[in-house]
Amino acid sequence: MRIALTAALLAAACSQAPPMPVPEATREAAGPPVDAGQRAANEPAPDAGQDVAGGIKQGASEAAGNVAAGAKEAAQIVAQAASTAAADLAEALQKLPPAPPIPDTPIFLPAVEEPRDNPTTPEKVWLGYQLFFDKRLAKDGSMSCESCHHPELAWTSGNPTDPKVGGGANKRNAPTVENVAYYHSFYWDGRAPTMEAVSAAAWKGQLGADPGSRRTRPERTCPWRWRRSCAP
Ligand code: HEC
Repeated sequence: MRIALTAALLAAACSQAPPMPVPEATREAAGPPVDAGQRAANEPAPDAGQDVAGGIKQGASEAAGNVAAGAKEAAQIVAQAASTAAADLAEALQKLPPAPPIPDTPIFLPAVEEPRDNPTTPEKVWLGYQLFFDKRLAKDGSMSCESCHHPELAWTSGNPTDPKVGGGANKRNAPTVENVAYYHSFYWDGRAPTMEAVSAAAWKGQLGADPGSRRTRPERTCPWRWRRSCAP
């Protein structure tokens, strides 16, 4: 029964189409046990495969009505949650003041070459500027990028070395981040190829972020997980 329900929910989520008419969903739910088993691969394994499969076959036809209703209800809840989230986001975006224009490059410097896969926009520049000073980026909220790259010290820390979030040691001092937009290699030994790589490394290495953990990456809502596991 649980497996059949999962199969019906997966089928509804994967199709990404409006919920199927009840009779079809019912047939899906009551389909062969092999199919149900495959679709529910992410779910904890049933305790006794054969017995459970037999049980599902029997129970499925009686439970089919409930399953279909459940799937339909779940699809409705998911759709409602998605539209609420979209509305919230649209409202929040409307409240935000527009990003200020990107400051002009000083006339004595050449134009900055943009990475082709990450074009510069006023919104990204403004967001990046704010994130640089935001301690919420750190695992324990104790540091921001600015903690080691102070504007008033030419974007260095002024210390021989600085401890990372969590107490780990840095072997080298924090270099200036002035004009790094012109660099083609980063760090004292030039080992990092792009600004994008350095930013991600600093977030994880210096600020202790764990992008895989729930703390820094909120759990995705079910439709995303399903879509990913349903991807061909
Ligand atoms: C705890 C101190 C610390 C924090 C916090 C920190 N950095 Fe750094 N940063 C360093 C050190 C040390 C290096 C040099 C590492 C090396 O050369 O091996 C560095 C290097 C860099 C560089 C390369 C500069 C160059 O000359 O190649 C950039 C860019 C940079 N950091 C950006 C950031 C950003 C963005 C953040 C926030 C997400 C950040 N840093 C947070 C210590 C820190």
